[in-house]
Amino acid sequence: MRVLITGKNGQVGNDLVKTVPKGIDLYPFGHNDLDITCETTISTKLNEIKPDYIINAAAYTAVVRAEKEHKQATLVNTTAAGYLSAAAKEVAAKFLHISTDFVFDGLQSSPYQPDTPANPFSIYGESKANGEALVRKYFAAGSIILRTSWVYSTTGHNFVKTMLNLMRDRDELQVVCDQVGTPTWSKNLALTIWAMVTNNAHSGIYHWSDAGVASWYDFAIAIYEEALNFQLLDKTIKIIPVSTSQYPTPAKRPAYSVLDSSLTNKIWGVQQEHWRQALRKMLIEQKKLIQISNELIKS
Ligand SMILES: NC(=O)c1ccc[n+]([C@@H]2O[C@H](COP(=O)([O-])OP(=O)(O)OC[C@H]3O[C@@H](n4cnc5c(N)ncnc54)[C@H](OP(=O)(O)O)[C@@H]3O)[C@@H](O)[C@H]2O)c1
Repeated sequence: MRVLITGKNGQVGNDLVKTVPKGIDLYPFGHNDLDITCETTISTKLNEIKPDYIINAAAYTAVVRAEKEHKQATLVNTTAAGYLSAAAKEVAAKFLHISTDFVFDGLQSSPYQPDTPANPFSIYGESKANGEALVRKYFAAGSIILRTSWVYSTTGHNFVKTMLNLMRDRDELQVVCDQVGTPTWSKNLALTIWAMVTNNAHSGIYHWSDAGVASWYDFAIAIYEEALNFQLLDKTIKIIPVSTSQYPTPAKRPAYSVLDSSLTNKIWGVQQEHWRQALRKMLIEQKKLIQISNELIKS
C-alpha cells in the first residue's frame, strides 16, 4: 500500500515515519516539500505518487498564537483540510485527518463521544472543527477523522518537554489544576493510526487517546516524579496547583476534554495504555536521546 504523510516533522508525523509497518510504501512530506495550503502542489504530488492512503498530520497547532493569527490557523486547519480531502477523492485515495479534543466546549463531565456536536471556544478549536466539516463535505465516504488529545513526544514542542526545562530552571512552578483531559504519547497514537490505515474498511469520526484522566497539574506532578526517578532532573522543586482564573491565557481551553476511545478500540482491536505508563516509556526514550547526544559531544 502506498501511503502519503503530510507534516512528517511534527510530533505525530515523526512517529508515523518511525513506526511504519512492513509492506507500506511510505511517502512522507514536511512543510518544505508539501505545503498543504497550496492546492496545485497537492494535486501535482498526488498525481505523481498515486497514493492509496493519505494521512494528514500537518496542522497549525499554536493554540495561543492562533488567537492573533486567525487567518493562518484557518488556512492550514480548515482550507487545507478541504483541499486534501477533495484531492484524495480525486485520486481515489482514502484519507485520515487528525483532529483535536479542542473542538469541544469542555462543559461535559463524562467522556466525549465521536458524535457529540463540536462547540469550540478557541480559534484553534474552531479552525479544526471547520476543517473536520470540510473533510466530511468533500469526502465523507473515504475519510476518517481521528480526534486525539494532549499529544507529547520526544520531538517538537510539548508540555512534557516544556515542564522538564522549567523544572531544571526554577524552584517553583504553578500549574493549572482545573482543566482535565488525557495525555497521549504520539508513538501510541501513531501505532493506532497504522492499525486504522492498514484495516481501512471504515470511515467517520473516531476518538483515540491513551487511557486515564489527569489535570495539567497531575500531569506535571507525574512528569516531575518520573524525571527524578529516571535522573532527568537532579533537584527538587515545588509544584503549586492554580485555577484557570489565576492563570488566564488568550485562548480559552476546555475544562474537561476526555475522549471516549472505545469505538476505535472495538473496531480496530487497539489496546489503550494508561497515560502514566506511556509517559514512563517516552521519558526512557528521552533519556536515551540525551545520552546519545552527550556521547556525540564527547567524541
Ligand atoms: N499537539 C497536541 O497536543 C495535539 C492535541 C490534539 C490533537 N492534535 C492534532 O494532532 C495533529 C498533529 O499534531 P502535532 O502535535 O504532531 O503537531 P506539530 O508537532 O505542531 O506538527 C505539525 C506539523 O505540521 C506542519 N505544518 C504546519 N503548516 C503546514 C503547511 N502549511 N503545510 C505543511 N505542513 C505544515 C508543521 O511544520 P512547521 O513547524 O515547519 O510549520 C509541523 O511539522 C494535528 O492535527 C493536531 O491538531 C495535536
